[in-house]
Amino acid sequence: MPGVSLVGSGSACLTAQLTNDALSQRVDTSDDWIATRTGIRQRHIATPQDSLASLATEAARNALAMAEVSATEVDLIVLATSTPDDLFGTACQVQQALGATRAVAFDLTAACSGFVFALVTAAQYIRTGVFKNVVVIGADVLSRWTDWDDRTTCVLFGDGAGAVVLRAAERDRLLGFELCSDGSLNHCLNLAYQPESEVLVGDITVQKGTFAPITMNGREVYKFAVSRVPEVIEKALFRANLTNADIDWLVLHQANQRILDAVADRLGVPAERVVSNMARHGNTSAASIPIAIDEAVRAGKIKAGDVMATAGFGAGLTWGSAIVQWA
Ligand code: COA
Repeated sequence: MPGVSLVGSGSACLTAQLTNDALSQRVDTSDDWIATRTGIRQRHIATPQDSLASLATEAARNALAMAEVSATEVDLIVLATSTPDDLFGTACQVQQALGATRAVAFDLTAACSGFVFALVTAAQYIRTGVFKNVVVIGADVLSRWTDWDDRTTCVLFGDGAGAVVLRAAERDRLLGFELCSDGSLNHCLNLAYQPESEVLVGDITVQKGTFAPITMNGREVYKFAVSRVPEVIEKALFRANLTNADIDWLVLHQANQRILDAVADRLGVPAERVVSNMARHGNTSAASIPIAIDEAVRAGKIKAGDVMATAGFGAGLTWGSAIVQWA
C-alpha cells in the first residue's frame, strides 16, 4: 500500500489587518478583553479584490513550489471551505487558476475541522493507489458571514488560506487519525440558511434567501473543545502506536489561546511545543492549521521527521485529529 508524505506547505498573504483597537471603534469591546479571553490581537481581512479562489490558489501555488511539484503533476485538489465563492464549489476555479489541468477538484465542508477532514480524505486516494500528488487546501473568508455588530462573535474570526502537498511515498507519514461528528450539538455554531418564502404560482411556494450571519454559543463550544480535543488526539496517537511524549508539535485549530493552553496542559505538551499564531490571525476556520504548519515550517521550527499532532474542531459539531510526520 502506498504511503502518504507531506512534502510542501504554503499560505496566502493578506495585507489588510484589523486590530483589536480598530474593531473597538465598531463594537463595544477592547484590546484587553479580546486578548485576555482569546489571545487574539489582530486578524487579516480579505479585500474586495480577493476571492476565496484567489486566496486558495496563492496558498496552493506556494505549497507546490516548496514541494517542487508542478501544477500539471497534480492529480487531485481538495478545497476545505465553508465560505465558497460559489455554492456549487470553488475548487474547479482553483484548478483552472493553478493550471492543474489533469487534476480533479472538489470542495469539502466541515467548518473548522475542514482541513483535517480533507487531509484524511485525500490520503485515502493515495493509499489506494489512485492518485500520487494531491493538494489539500483550507481556506475561509468568514468576514463575509460575520455579524460585525455582534461583539460575542466578530472579535474571533479572520480570513486566510493555507495548503499542503501530499505525495505517494514508500513510507507512510500519516501515522494515525480519528474523525468525529455530533449533530446533536449542531445548534451551538451555525452559519445557517435563512429562507424567505415566495409564492411561485398557485399553491407552489419556493424558498429563497441567503445565509444568516454566524451564531455561536461560546461557552458550550469552549467546553466541547477542551474535553473532546485531547480525547481525539489521544485516540489518533493510539492508532499511530505513539504516546503524548512523542508529540514534537501540537498544531491545533487556532480558535482561542485558552483552548490551546488547556488542551496542551491535558496532554502534558510543554508550551514551547504548541504552535500558535492566534495573536496575528484569529480564527481562520479551515485555514488555521495549514497556515500554522506553513509558518512553523518556514520559520525552521517544524523539521524533517518531526511528529505533529494536528486537531480541528468546530461547527457540525465536528472534530478530528491527524498525526503526521513532516517529510
Ligand atoms: N468585548 C467585551 N465584552 C464582551 C465581549 C467582547 N467582545 N463579548 C462578550 N462580552 C461580555 C459578555 O456580554 C459578558 O458580559 P456580562 O457578564 O455583563 O453578561 C461577559 O463579557 C462574559 O461573556 P462570556 O460569553 O461569559 O465570556 P467567555 O469568558 O465565555 O468568553 C468567548 C467568550 C467567546 C471568548 C469564549 O466563550 C470562547 O472562546 N468560546 C469558544 C468559541 C470558539 O472558539 N468558537 C469557534 C470554534 S471553531
